[in-house]
Amino acid sequence: MQYPTRTNSNAIALDALLVESAWEVCNQVGGIYTVIRSKVPAAVQGWGDRYCLLGPYFPQQAQSEFEPFDDMQLTLLSDPFAGAVRQMRQRGYDVQYGVWLVTGRPRTVLINPFQVYGHLGNIKSDLWHHHGIPTPDNDDLLHQVEAFGHLAKIFIEILTAEVVPPRRVIAHFHEWMTGVAIPDLRRDQVPVHIVFTTHATLLGRYLAMNDPNFYEHLMQVDWLAEARHFNIETAVSIERAAAHGSHVFTTVSELTVRECIYLLDRFPDAVLPNGLNIERFVALHEFQNLHKQYKDKINEFVMAHFFQSYSFDLDNTLYLFTSGRYEYHNKGFDLTLEALARLNYRLQQSGLEGNVVMFFITKRPFTSINPLVLQNRAILDEVRETCEAIQEQVGERLFYAAAAGSDHRLPDLSAMVDDYWRLRYRRTLQSWKTNALPSIITHNLIDDQNDDILNFMRRANLLNYQHDRVKMVYHPDFVSPTSPLFGMEYGQFVRGCHLGVFPSYYEPWGYTPLECIARGVPAITSDLSGFGDYVMQHVSDHEDKGIYVVHRQERSFHEAAEELTDMLWNFVLQNRRERIAQRNRVENSSELFDWKNLRVYYDRAYALALERF
Ligand code: G6P
Ligand code: GLC
Repeated sequence: MQYPTRTNSNAIALDALLVESAWEVCNQVGGIYTVIRSKVPAAVQGWGDRYCLLGPYFPQQAQSEFEPFDDMQLTLLSDPFAGAVRQMRQRGYDVQYGVWLVTGRPRTVLINPFQVYGHLGNIKSDLWHHHGIPTPDNDDLLHQVEAFGHLAKIFIEILTAEVVPPRRVIAHFHEWMTGVAIPDLRRDQVPVHIVFTTHATLLGRYLAMNDPNFYEHLMQVDWLAEARHFNIETAVSIERAAAHGSHVFTTVSELTVRECIYLLDRFPDAVLPNGLNIERFVALHEFQNLHKQYKDKINEFVMAHFFQSYSFDLDNTLYLFTSGRYEYHNKGFDLTLEALARLNYRLQQSGLEGNVVMFFITKRPFTSINPLVLQNRAILDEVRETCEAIQEQVGERLFYAAAAGSDHRLPDLSAMVDDYWRLRYRRTLQSWKTNALPSIITHNLIDDQNDDILNFMRRANLLNYQHDRVKMVYHPDFVSPTSPLFGMEYGQFVRGCHLGVFPSYYEPWGYTPLECIARGVPAITSDLSGFGDYVMQHVSDHEDKGIYVVHRQERSFHEAAEELTDMLWNFVLQNRRERIAQRNRVENSSELFDWKNLRVYYDRAYALALERF
């Protein structure tokens, strides 16, 4: 893939301003929020006060993340962004200028899309007459997007008028949702240098979900017919118009390059890989201590969930997990389950000790947490309280006896426990044990019968029998500190696990494995995910660094499942010392994905945009 090379890559044009626009600025929906937010510190470091973000204003979301400048502050600010905001206000528009309350505190303009809902008819008919983009009447997201695009275009136009040449303005739009501003910026010849980045093609995602031979068929797709078939003609048309209208068109990985060529009909000018803002501890052992601390919390969950039926050695148990949007096939949940079934069989045959608990963290509609699962958790808490009370009582009495007595032998400890606590101990434990199997799912799903994950587990008889060496916990909700089951943040849960498993079939980039690496937890990805593809090309000895890539390109499902099984098997064979050493290497390699190193791709694209005008 070509990267722009003609310009000195590290020199950011000092006369240029950069506006970066995304639907997820101050508004978390999915992965692009992570891209923009984590990149802020590096962007601000490079561009300083020549950098500004632009997004839609939704009061609910903005309330907790955004601090607007008040009227007084706005009058005093002398930067061109403030000037453009003042101008827009004078013309009667509702525009906010302030600071996004995230690390790096970037200047941010938020525009309320609803203020032009009265003119939606005109906006839609202009899109149709000028650019051939049709919009149906009943789709509110499309209305919001088009209204925002209209306003974003006005803002950029005013900003360019504010800026005195030779100063120049670069506008970088992410995804079709903000890219909708591009066709009109070009039509009206607004003097702005435009970069457009697509993080996936919309049609590619739909096709991959519905066509098991997506990659083979990609070259023959009739985009319009398929877009109509999936009822996404408007969004796809906007995406194509933005790709064609930009001066520099980019995407996030080599994999999406192919989609861009065949579905958008434009060859991207550059690939901009995604990074993270990596924050490392001064002392290496600190992140290892955190692993231990959060693993202990997961241990508590596992005791509550399983020990009522049977127990196993937690010191010899590995925690594996996968997470992400519920796309059974695209996220490789199907492959993961198949490999787990094979691993279970191999472990049973091997005579080796130890267990694996696999967590599926995703989001499905449910009615409630399974009451029995919840009750187990409550009983375990009661067991703990009772033990602590007994421990305290015995401790005090033993101390007294030791200090006061002349006999040096250890007294009978059980005689030191009151009858009340003895009975309570018995009663609690009586309600604890059961013959039922530990549930494979923590919640009651609305559609339990047709759930692909559950159906696989039922079919493969992976139902948490005592003799199963791979146990299943399907948690169809995000992990959050307020959840009564885990009570931790997602990042803490990741730290407590041993391995993340993400062998996707379709994944333009995929942040989940990178989020593991950043925390020193090894991860499995695939060569059909942008991240995996990047790792194969740019990270030498990546397996040694705890980044495993399953080969899925031109491989059958069963070949890939066998490779994944081998990876899991080899991982399970490691001893604790090896795991600790591997985590150190993983954590060490996280630096490679720091925006401080990856920002250069963005800056090269900007340099190219400045040339191409
Ligand atoms: C961290 C802690 C060690 C602990 C280890 C467990 O490294 O600092 O004290 O023994 O985790 O590792 P494991 O891979 O068995 O969870
Ligand atoms: C999209 C892609 C995902 C990527 C994210 C950020 O959501 O589907 O793979 O991680 O954008 O680029």
